[in-house]
Amino acid sequence: MERAAFIKQYATDRKQTNSLKWDALKERYGNADLLPMWVADMEFKVPEAVTQALMDRVTHGVYGYSFTPDSYGQALIDWEQSRHGMTLQKDWLRFGSGVVNSLYALVNILTNPGDGVLILTPVYYPFFNAVRDNHRQLVTSELVNDQGHYTIDFEDVERQIKNNEVRLFIQCSPHNPVGRVWTEAEETRLLALCEQYNVLVVSDEIHQDLEIDPVQHPFVSALTVADGRFSDRVIVVNSPSKTFNVASLLNSHVIIPDAELRTRYDDNIGRFSQTEINDLGQVAGQAAYAHGAEWLEQVLDIIRDNYHYLQTTFEAQAPKLVVADLQGTYLTWLDLRAYVEPDEIKAFIQNKCGLAVDFGEWFSPLDQGFVRLNLATDPKNVQQAVQRIVTAIAERS
Ligand SMILES: Cc1ncc(COP(=O)(O)O)c(C=O)c1O
Repeated sequence: MERAAFIKQYATDRKQTNSLKWDALKERYGNADLLPMWVADMEFKVPEAVTQALMDRVTHGVYGYSFTPDSYGQALIDWEQSRHGMTLQKDWLRFGSGVVNSLYALVNILTNPGDGVLILTPVYYPFFNAVRDNHRQLVTSELVNDQGHYTIDFEDVERQIKNNEVRLFIQCSPHNPVGRVWTEAEETRLLALCEQYNVLVVSDEIHQDLEIDPVQHPFVSALTVADGRFSDRVIVVNSPSKTFNVASLLNSHVIIPDAELRTRYDDNIGRFSQTEINDLGQVAGQAAYAHGAEWLEQVLDIIRDNYHYLQTTFEAQAPKLVVADLQGTYLTWLDLRAYVEPDEIKAFIQNKCGLAVDFGEWFSPLDQGFVRLNLATDPKNVQQAVQRIVTAIAERS
């Protein structure tokens, strides 16, 4: 489908739909008129096949308790195989009502109060909460930022693991907010450290399908690294929610290849969740995995173009603004410190630019002066956001 036709058909106004991103601006930012570039969801309607599958289900009109049909697991297995060369077995699969919920449960199931849990920062802020709220010891290793290209400080990771009796590493792969798709070499080194020090790994791979350049930067699941060498200590959590814009349908996966870990999970998950699955979420997910690939390619192309526009415009008109390399996710990470004092960033972004963004310090206390912008939206929103930033920067000099 032509780009313009796709946008016309799928990009939509979300105001007054109980959208957290669009309708909670007053409550969250004190100003309902900001242009919302926060919250990791999209302004695109789901693939038609998903809408149709939901309509068929809704037309039936009964929403009693449901279970996960084999066909759902098969659609997920086929998707992972064809998209990422990842071979999953049905008995590895467990289902949840959201990745963050699963992170909370897994921290409880896999560690004891006081144990060290490692995260690489800056990172998606619920990672901090999942550790702190459960009274585990938060252990962080800061990624190394070289002009927007982020890498792992392996020596520091090893030091943190050793010094803090780390029992669990929660990784974000691809990494929100810095946009890295970890290479097989990086993953191998990281997971080998976990093996050496007997650290379990929960790999949050919710952004797995959002590869910006799959040839240069292909996503490698922690389960397939080094031909699956580490899969006895890895649990993957993911879901169709970022890929297909179905977050509020509350359907996610916990993938556990190791039989002992699976038993531990099964024996304990009841302490954290007693809900059955969300049937509508699985109806949507199954249709998306079976029929959504074409739609996803179109959306990825829009995200790539939005990123290119943002990068080239800043390069030309605000060249000291550092844009992190976007390899995966649809979230771009900007360092505005060359133009804006870190403690003025909120006033600058909200009052001068009229934008609602995720602020850097939400992802790491060290990252005041950074902002995260969502690119999975109508190009006109990205253009407006970028132009507002460029204009506000020009007015300062
Ligand atoms: C890394 C990561 N994990 C989890 C989530 C949220 O997952 P869920 O809505 O399934 O809890 C997000 C959403 O932005 C995310 O970026």
